[in-house]
Amino acid sequence: MSVDGKIASRVGDCEFSDDEDWKRVHKLRASVDAIMVGRRTIETDDSKLTIKSFPDFKIPISKFPTRVVVDGLAKTPATARIFTVELEHYPSILATTTNAPKEKLDEIRALGVKVLVCGKGPRVDLVHLMRDLRTMNIRTLLLEGGGTLNFSMLENDLIDEVSLSVAPVLVGGLSATSLIGGKGFDKIKQSCQLELIEFEKLGKNLFVRYLVRRNGEKT
Ligand SMILES: NC(=O)c1ccc[n+]([C@@H]2O[C@H](COP(=O)([O-])OP(=O)(O)OC[C@H]3O[C@@H](n4cnc5c(N)ncnc54)[C@H](OP(=O)(O)O)[C@@H]3O)[C@@H](O)[C@H]2O)c1
Repeated sequence: MSVDGKIASRVGDCEFSDDEDWKRVHKLRASVDAIMVGRRTIETDDSKLTIKSFPDFKIPISKFPTRVVVDGLAKTPATARIFTVELEHYPSILATTTNAPKEKLDEIRALGVKVLVCGKGPRVDLVHLMRDLRTMNIRTLLLEGGGTLNFSMLENDLIDEVSLSVAPVLVGGLSATSLIGGKGFDKIKQSCQLELIEFEKLGKNLFVRYLVRRNGEKT
């Protein structure tokens, strides 16, 4: 993200990472059971959510992470790369609701993608989704945005840790997506409380890691 907390510019440009930072991201992807994004992130970036190897840096993969797109009405096209690229290695899941058209779900299933129906919608019931993923033995989940889904996960108290790479840029733009979107919390006291546990300069960026502190937990 930028120093002013934007994860994309107002036209959707999100090139904040240099090679060093991308290596960190891909190493992190290789360490989790699943990677999850919101529907609009796929719409904007058509992300593959795979692990890239660099000419000078090969990331060992012991288990390919499962990819999850959160899309209550199943609007993501069947041609999206998350549904079509390297399915033989990386399983893909469409997390949706009973509001999604049945024919679209059949089309997605026919690609070899698993469909999880979580609640009545229009938005995906995230607590339901987390339970379903757990029954599939998914224990570590990397949430990669965007801001709307980030807030929903926070609101449901489903985030344990926050890792940020802050690029030395200021982007601005009221309509540019922020790290945390949604409605937001009214009071700072009610907002998500974090404890700083790590920071380092990584290339041009600042890498920061926090733990989420629950009510009553001492820092
Ligand atoms: N810099 C980075 O690291 C980074 C990472 C990821 C994304 N991004 C950027 O972030 C932008 C997209 O972020 P965004 O905030 O617009 O969208 P988003 O969080 O990717 O997706 C939000 C959409 O997910 C669907 N959804 C279904 N159930 C949901 C639930 N329970 N809670 C929240 N969303 C739910 C909704 O689709 P419906 O609208 O169909 O209801 C909602 O509009 C893009 O520009 C992308 O490039 C940047």
